[in-house]
Amino acid sequence: MSSDEQKTNQQWGGRFNEPTDAFVARFTASIDFDKRLYDQDIRGSQAHARMLNKIGVLTDEELTAITEGLDQIKSEIERGEIEWSVELEDIHMNIEARLTDRIGITGKKLHTGRSRNDQIATDIRLYLRDEIDFLLTEVTRLQEGLLEVAEREAGTIMPGFTHLQTAQPVTFGHHLMAWFEMLSRDYGRLHDCRARLNQSPLGAAALAGTTYPIDRFYSAELLDFDGPTANSLDSVSDRDFAIEFCAAASLVMTHLSRMSEELVLWTSAQFNFIELPDRFCTGSSIMPQKKNPDVPELVRGKSGRVNGHLISLLTLMKSQPLAYNKDNQEDKEPLFDTVDTLKGCLRAYADMVPAIRAKADSMRDAARRGFSTATDLADYLVRKGMPFRDAHEVVGKAVAFGIENGLDLSEMSLDQLSQFSDTICDDVFDVLTLEGSVNARNHTGGTAPAQVKLAVTAARATLAARR
Ligand code: ARG
Repeated sequence: MSSDEQKTNQQWGGRFNEPTDAFVARFTASIDFDKRLYDQDIRGSQAHARMLNKIGVLTDEELTAITEGLDQIKSEIERGEIEWSVELEDIHMNIEARLTDRIGITGKKLHTGRSRNDQIATDIRLYLRDEIDFLLTEVTRLQEGLLEVAEREAGTIMPGFTHLQTAQPVTFGHHLMAWFEMLSRDYGRLHDCRARLNQSPLGAAALAGTTYPIDRFYSAELLDFDGPTANSLDSVSDRDFAIEFCAAASLVMTHLSRMSEELVLWTSAQFNFIELPDRFCTGSSIMPQKKNPDVPELVRGKSGRVNGHLISLLTLMKSQPLAYNKDNQEDKEPLFDTVDTLKGCLRAYADMVPAIRAKADSMRDAARRGFSTATDLADYLVRKGMPFRDAHEVVGKAVAFGIENGLDLSEMSLDQLSQFSDTICDDVFDVLTLEGSVNARNHTGGTAPAQVKLAVTAARATLAARR
């Protein structure tokens, strides 16, 4: 027997006749990944200890010993001095055992009136709350970057697409403000998730509550929770808040992935709409001409793992009877990776977006090809009294003529245009220009440069109100 196999777990050894199998100990341990929750675990323990002191379960001396002991353990961990033990299974028992090593018998009183079940439920909520607060600032930073570029490019004309076919001219600023809107809803979802998770499970103990006269409102307040959770069984078992976070994260990644797809297309020689700075791209080891948009590609790719984590957590939860089950230990790795991935992707985007350079001439050329002002010509005919369906037909014929002769609508002479309808006169050229087309869409939510500027101003006020 190795020394591993001979150890009986000191936290529950009383009931057991033989030590835990060495492989089983490693298999069931979570310390390798939940050590990351050390700070939240210590904060939770300190709040719990203060509550126990308030209700007379711990003396003032005991509270001081526990609080200071935990502070010192925190420093030890941060200096990399602690040796994590797999026999102690998880972060909770590692810290508690270390505390007892340090301060003696008083350390064994900390676990009075609680369980690892309410402890871990508390830790994850504290963790996620901190991470969401940071992610919200990163979403805002990315949105600020978008506003900067949108304002600069409010009047830059590019083709707008449906089915990835040229549809109507739009402004680049308007396109970027569409991205801004997606992110505003993502911000709202993360914010909502934070509000719903901010309740304290402490006191739920293993599942049914505890026989001590605990003050759950007090420990909740010490940890900046809005209050205690309402039902002990629910508190220790549900991880819906983590699922909700992953769902919100999946949507953030879906949006970043869509943006990525566009950036990848736009940097290609075929589109040639934008330039990404070299520092966000890489070259090829064989093709000297290549400049690859790695950051957007990687972000697009990483959306896959985040969607995967959402499905993992939903599946993890779906068949669990009340209350706590060990299955829930599997919530951490997907959750941590979701947070890490989201942080990385948002950071890369927030850094990169302000550096996007529009190639205005190239965008404009593309908008001029592909008959993007065809709808404007139809609307012109309608204003002159023609029913829309007839106007659609007339313009369709003009486009066919353009295709045959290699001419855009704006490049045709009045004679050429009026062969399709004698209601076309020389004022038609006002609507066939790209500027005429975008300026005409001058209403809330429209693509006119004036509207883009208004949208940017309104958006700045929204961001300012977040502070
Ligand atoms: N490591 C466990 C988890 O992550 C902590 C709670 C363990 N509770 C238990 N009764 N085994 O869920």
